[in-house]
Amino acid sequence: MTHDLSTERFPEGFAWGTATASYQIEGAVHEDGRLPSVWDTFAHTPGKVFRNQTGDVAADHYHRWPEDVSLLADLGVTHYRFSLAWPRIQPEGYGPVNGAGVDFYSRLVDSLLDHGITPWVTLYHWDLPQPLEDAGGWPRRETAEKFAEYAALIHQRLGDRVRDWTTLNEPWCAAFLGYASGHHAPGRTDGAAAMRAAHHLMLGHGLAVEALRDQGAANLGLTVNLYPVDAATDRDADRDAARRIDGLMNRLFLDPVLRGTYPADVLKDVAEITGTEHVRDGDLATISAPLDFLGVNYYSRHVVRAGAPQPGPSHWVGSSDVEFVKRGVPETEMGWEIDPDGLYETLTRLAREYGPLPLYVTENGAAFPDEVTREGRVHDENRRRYLEEHFRAAHRAIADGADLRGYFVWTLLDNFEWAHGYSKRFGLVHVDFETQVRTLKDSGRWFSEITRANAL
Ligand code: NOJ
Repeated sequence: MTHDLSTERFPEGFAWGTATASYQIEGAVHEDGRLPSVWDTFAHTPGKVFRNQTGDVAADHYHRWPEDVSLLADLGVTHYRFSLAWPRIQPEGYGPVNGAGVDFYSRLVDSLLDHGITPWVTLYHWDLPQPLEDAGGWPRRETAEKFAEYAALIHQRLGDRVRDWTTLNEPWCAAFLGYASGHHAPGRTDGAAAMRAAHHLMLGHGLAVEALRDQGAANLGLTVNLYPVDAATDRDADRDAARRIDGLMNRLFLDPVLRGTYPADVLKDVAEITGTEHVRDGDLATISAPLDFLGVNYYSRHVVRAGAPQPGPSHWVGSSDVEFVKRGVPETEMGWEIDPDGLYETLTRLAREYGPLPLYVTENGAAFPDEVTREGRVHDENRRRYLEEHFRAAHRAIADGADLRGYFVWTLLDNFEWAHGYSKRFGLVHVDFETQVRTLKDSGRWFSEITRANAL
């Protein structure tokens, strides 16, 4: 039977939102006691970011947040996912709370609630306080403990109004782009350190969940970035390449959290690079503390084949021989193939292999070059179509048993796209980075109809 694609309704109470992250939008990096994070240091190191751009000003959200909350209201969202900058709350990464930093988020939360928008808070979206990196960063166990202390402190301040908490955003990126390939802050290139970072990120997640549960937190989750991984051919070597990349990308994070074990094949693949001495008794029990939801960031699919090991740093620890194959299908400006079926596969795989679990798409969206017309419009039909196709895929996944409860579009505003600087625009709202003028794109206008109808 074919689906009637013209009348797709989403479940009652489905969460529709947009997502952002502190360093990508806030700017105001020296204000109200904030100290540098690893991203300030990295972006200010020549040659790391496109045209040496930084998040110093970004979309100036720190000053323009009232306007941005109005935009959220215009979009009709029920939820808004944003992250807290740890270096605003504990500028050194430990010690007492910086009241002025907390006040910023407190005002934002109040304003969202006044507008009937549920704040959906991410505790860590990659802006590690620099002093903690100087002490060893995520490869060091104490960073996980510090993270849980920070989580507990901020929950004490906001937990009376914020119900929904996500510990980490995309630990894969934080560990492997940050410590193995060095494409992201802190820019280290050490595969063994990256594996330790991955473990300590997950441990930090588990310790934070324990701390927040102790304070009675209601809705706790983790956000991971997942990809379906296909072998380019049926050759054994290519199928093994797919197994390895699926292991590093997906199972290395899903298995400990949802099953309380590390995938044995992945540990074997990386055994020559690192052992498991850093994994202590009890860690996996902490990491697998029950969650209320899993957040999924979905952008594309990986198709892979085995090749020759590549010299130089790779974020595919122990698998630098794997080649990523393009299928020649349309791509976004990131060079990521557009593959809505991959979202369907990801959501239904979770339901099938990891059991019943409430799911949220915590990010999905597309970068395309945009222009503001003289009439003040942005005609981004490509982005609108991308979103529509992915919403349909999500709807199909719900029909086929995935317990999907909500969907956050990446992103509200054009912003600092990490190593790409301001060269990639993902927003539903265009930002002119000279004037900071915001312009709702056509995709945003369309999205506001979806959020209000709760249907396609
Ligand atoms: C994943 C990250 O969480 C977000 O920070 C980034 O901007 C988007 N994906 C797009 O790359």
